[in-house]
Amino acid sequence: MNSKTSAIIVGGGIIGSAIAADLIRAGIRCTLVEKGALLQEASAAAAGMLGAQVEIHRPGAFYELCRYSQQLYRKWTEELEELSGVSPQYIDQGIVRIAWNEEDENELRSRLPWIQDAQWLEANEFRELEPALSSHIRGGLHFPMDHQVQPVQLAHTLQAALRKLGCDIREWTPVFSLIERGGRVVGIRTSEGDLYADHVILCAGAWSSALTEPLGLKLPMFPVKGQCISIRPPAPLIRKTVFTKGCYIVPKKDGTMIVGATQEEAGFDKRCLVSAVGALHAKAAALLPALEQAELVSTWAGLRPGTRDELPFIGNSSKAPGLLFATGHYRNGILLAPGTGKLMTQLVLGQSPDRDLAPFAPDRVLAGVDAG
Ligand code: FAD
Ligand code: GLY
Repeated sequence: MNSKTSAIIVGGGIIGSAIAADLIRAGIRCTLVEKGALLQEASAAAAGMLGAQVEIHRPGAFYELCRYSQQLYRKWTEELEELSGVSPQYIDQGIVRIAWNEEDENELRSRLPWIQDAQWLEANEFRELEPALSSHIRGGLHFPMDHQVQPVQLAHTLQAALRKLGCDIREWTPVFSLIERGGRVVGIRTSEGDLYADHVILCAGAWSSALTEPLGLKLPMFPVKGQCISIRPPAPLIRKTVFTKGCYIVPKKDGTMIVGATQEEAGFDKRCLVSAVGALHAKAAALLPALEQAELVSTWAGLRPGTRDELPFIGNSSKAPGLLFATGHYRNGILLAPGTGKLMTQLVLGQSPDRDLAPFAPDRVLAGVDAG
């Protein structure tokens, strides 16, 4: 039955690609349609933190979703690496979140009752763990289960795996609109003609709302620009990712470090500004003074798919029958890829999903275009 079932995935970022890989392995025929090249937008701009503990500020359904995906991650990457022969450079050294003052300490300690895997460390314990850290830090939380990958490498891994799996990949093929028949979404109109399938899945990241509007549906999503720099310290400085308010430093296997990131609602502008590069470097050097002497390797910006309540849209909608949503993963799409792939596959197969998707239902905000 499954091999006759088909799906079209609109958007070849990490979310669309992860869903395609899972669907194909479940026996569903998949067409992945991307307006540019695969995995070049937000998914290639990310730092690669799998930060289910460090990046989530409150308990609840979203934290549980992040943990669910985090628990799938290592096996997911191992399977993709085996298929593709390309390593996503998984690093399991943990992440630390630094407090500079009493206010930071109180905020971080207030997370301890609900965070699963975290430990408060005093400044001297931190400096034993990571001796290059500034002597001005107050302390912080250590999250040993928060790992990381190299997103550009993971993009190569996923792309090669999808080709191995026989995914029908259509790059440089913009989707102009969704096709509705009898009140159901049944296909897509592209630059190369119309395509039809049993399931149409919207994974167009920050561009997603442009495709629901012609259906008369306003999906409140917007791009949140993040500027990043890659730098190379004179010698290896840290093993763990270091995170603090407004800055993170993610050490990679090739000796570089990603320092991120700004958070700007600036439309679809992806330019990098010297001022942002300077500010990121200053924040990073405050954490790791030896970075004063770092070499600047590169700069870039990406557009996070933002939503007002900072929750993704995962699942179907009573207002757009036939259309599945997997978009709005905002700051955590790299982390959430395997979880989203698995949940969407369960929905397509008509199985009950591992997680309650009600908190992520598009219907919580989806309104008619005239609703203002
Ligand atoms: P995208 O990667 O943007 O993919 C959407 C795709 O849809 C694009 O390729 C686009 O071209 C395509 N598309 C759009 N419209 C159409 C159309 N009409 N027709 C065809 N194709 C279309 N997340 C983490 O988990 N950990 C991190 O450390 C992390 N760091 C980040 C740092 C920065 C600076 C940024 C910007 C993001 C970071 N993120 C991180 C967030 C993460 O990158 C995103 O949540 C994730 O990449 C979203 O994936 P996506 O597939 O939904 O979007
Ligand atoms: N998750 C890190 C970022 O979005 O910048």
